[in-house]
Amino acid sequence: DKGNHRHFMLKEIYEQPTVVGQTLGSYLDPLAETVTVPGLCFDPKALSRITLIACGTSYYAAMIAQYWLEHYAKIPVTVDIASEFRYRQPVMTRGGLSLFISQSGETADTLAALRHCKAEGQITATIVNVAQSTMAREADMVFPTHAGPEIGVASTKAFTCQLAVLAALSIAFGVARGHIDQTEQAALVRVLNEIPSRMSEALQAEQQVASHAADLSRARDVLYLGRGADYPLALEGALKLKEISYIHAEGYAAGEIKHGPIALIDPNVPVIVIAPKGPLFEKTISNMEEVIARGGKVILMSCKEGIASQGRTAGNSIEMPAVHPLASPLVYAIPVQLLAYHTAVLKGTDVDQPRNLAKSVTVE
Ligand code: F6R
Repeated sequence: DKGNHRHFMLKEIYEQPTVVGQTLGSYLDPLAETVTVPGLCFDPKALSRITLIACGTSYYAAMIAQYWLEHYAKIPVTVDIASEFRYRQPVMTRGGLSLFISQSGETADTLAALRHCKAEGQITATIVNVAQSTMAREADMVFPTHAGPEIGVASTKAFTCQLAVLAALSIAFGVARGHIDQTEQAALVRVLNEIPSRMSEALQAEQQVASHAADLSRARDVLYLGRGADYPLALEGALKLKEISYIHAEGYAAGEIKHGPIALIDPNVPVIVIAPKGPLFEKTISNMEEVIARGGKVILMSCKEGIASQGRTAGNSIEMPAVHPLASPLVYAIPVQLLAYHTAVLKGTDVDQPRNLAKSVTVE
């Protein structure tokens, strides 16, 4: 049932504050201001490495988690696409955790990688949305997301719920490994706790996001730029747009564009710059200026202060609430999803059932 929404995708975008709140709720104690992982079957202090493996949007969640796990838990992290991981000869160390991320829990390549890691003696865990799935049955440990059934083929709420679990795990492992003290833990729990409200505020920008869809729907190519944990979000933005509007799009680490992609810039290529105010803001803005200097048409996603500092207006920006860097990929996922959605609606594509795609990919 789509409720009042025209598509399942839009309904699922709007469910995110609720389902992310539910997912975080299984890890956070807001009163004690602590993060706890129930039933952990390994000691985070003893982990030599975490290998994150997934496909598609779930792979971008894994890429975002790499920044968090390195920053907060100081664990060496490897991230790979399941279909690549499985067919090379990855060197796995003793005491390694292999963590598989999947909405469906049935993706053939991810499942094959899980079986391989298990046979190699790794500790295996999975973040899945479908609790009765094959991956949930076969992994040593399951971290469920509570997104509820995701009907739209393009993943939205499953992605942000995966991020919610990964953020909670990063903080919990950081505490267990002695890198986060009680005061810092309390502050980070407050950040996580406020994510659902910040996501609700982000949803209020829907009309502003929609006002940019006409420009995007006329483009042949679109670029998305971001830095740090917002770089994988740029990749996700490009994937969402490709999947449902059939417009060619690419995501780049903002610092990489001068190494090649800047040759693509001209007034007909919209460039979406994801630049929350934070430690990487100035760096991302200097990359944005390189694009503008070459005639690029930029849409800046930032907070009020970030947008004002660049003298931008509603016509060439999308305003988000001010957020802590840990929260930004979850909050900025919303305008990224809405932009793809409204562009696809203008193009008249089948948003919930895009051509050539299936919800669950069970062939390798
Ligand atoms: C993108 C999308 C796909 C899936 C990928 C992995 O919107 O839905 O890229 O993310 O096929 O699927 P799961 O997470 O079920 O393993």
